Amino acid sequence: MLNLASSTDPTWVEAALAHLDEILLDHAHCEKKAAGAAVNLLFRYPEHAFLQAPLAALAREELAHFEAVLARMEARGLVFARQRSSAYGGRLHALVRDGEPARLVDVLLVSALIEARSCERFKLLAEAAPDRDLAAFYAELLASEARHHEIYLDLARALQPEAEVRERLAVLARAEAEILRDPAPLVRLHSGGEAMDIQSDCERERVSIPVDGGTMGGYLVRPADSESRPAVIVYMEIFGINSHIREVTDRVAGEGFVALAPDYFHRTGPGVEYGYDDTGMAEGMKLLGQLKSDEMIADARAAIAFLRGRSDVTGKVGAMGFCIGGHMTYLTACETDVAASASYYGGGIAGPQGPGGGPSTVSRTGKITGRILCHFGGQDTMIPQDQVDAIRKALEEAAVRNEVVVYPDADHGFNCSQRASYHKASADDAWQRTFALFREELGD
Ligand SMILES: [Fe+2]
Ligand SMILES: [Fe+2]
Repeated sequence: MLNLASSTDPTWVEAALAHLDEILLDHAHCEKKAAGAAVNLLFRYPEHAFLQAPLAALAREELAHFEAVLARMEARGLVFARQRSSAYGGRLHALVRDGEPARLVDVLLVSALIEARSCERFKLLAEAAPDRDLAAFYAELLASEARHHEIYLDLARALQPEAEVRERLAVLARAEAEILRDPAPLVRLHSGGEAMDIQSDCERERVSIPVDGGTMGGYLVRPADSESRPAVIVYMEIFGINSHIREVTDRVAGEGFVALAPDYFHRTGPGVEYGYDDTGMAEGMKLLGQLKSDEMIADARAAIAFLRGRSDVTGKVGAMGFCIGGHMTYLTACETDVAASASYYGGGIAGPQGPGGGPSTVSRTGKITGRILCHFGGQDTMIPQDQVDAIRKALEEAAVRNEVVVYPDADHGFNCSQRASYHKASADDAWQRTFALFREELGD
């Protein structure tokens, strides 16, 4: 009924009961956040009349829960205060797709899953709490969280057909279960995923990069300290610098690099952000069709020069990218002096022609001076294995220091947690190899 993809591990209940004060404080924060999230939707979507009354009622209930938890805390002599939250909510919201109605559907489904997980865990607390009064309190709350779960699902169904909502819910539920499987040093109601809680330690900015008499936008993230660091360029897919690419860029900064995602669609579709749906695919393919090798090379050189011009960059630069960004990575390796590059499922590298016509990108392989790592999916029908073999052969013949890894179970887009083709085991392995390479080649 709750549509969760996993059950809470019994060790969570033990930890929660051993840290009840922390759990109660976190619970108070969660109820307040739940009310705030519902109110935010009321303001963000005034055009959706159907959201207004159900979410207003839900927000009121969450505030009543907040007050009830505050009363419990007071009875125990606890004072409400700031508290470090778990990464759970942030990581779930990072999965929200761009573009409407996908964005709203995802926000509603993520909320539905959070309600479901609260309900599941309140039940465990109701069963295990030695304090009967507290047990009764949680037993009472779990019924309203189950109802909230249904309300959010119903609202999503008002926007998209049932089958689509079910399919997306299943994807998000699997992601939610994965997040909870990650190490959880904090004892929280929704603990999990703290190992990747890097977002608070980074500084982000939107930058303008001069190129060919115009400017290319970019999303730049660096660790929040004053140290100089090597830089890594993160090349987007055909979907623009969307929430997934921003999340990847954040993670790169979390690995200790100045990370820059340049918008190399700036000539034809500056600032586009697409979701992983049919519209996003169609629009992204149009922009892909307008790319030209020479302009891509100019953009790569401009991004590198921009990074080297910053006082917080050591001068060493690497590149990584996904899908057409994987192709852009390969082209960058050929035509610039990057010390290391990691291409993920780069399409068309060994195609008959390069982007916009002219020589095939693989024919430039002899110009590569740095090390290169290429990741492909064995199930990827967009990149036939004979193209992978052609790339491997070209790299070997040119004596480029290289590694070509084919993940047998992975499909195109396997690194992207927002796509149905997400394959965590392959994505984790590829990430590890990529950053081992960057640390070896870009480090001091
Ligand atoms: Fe609640
Ligand atoms: Fe709720």
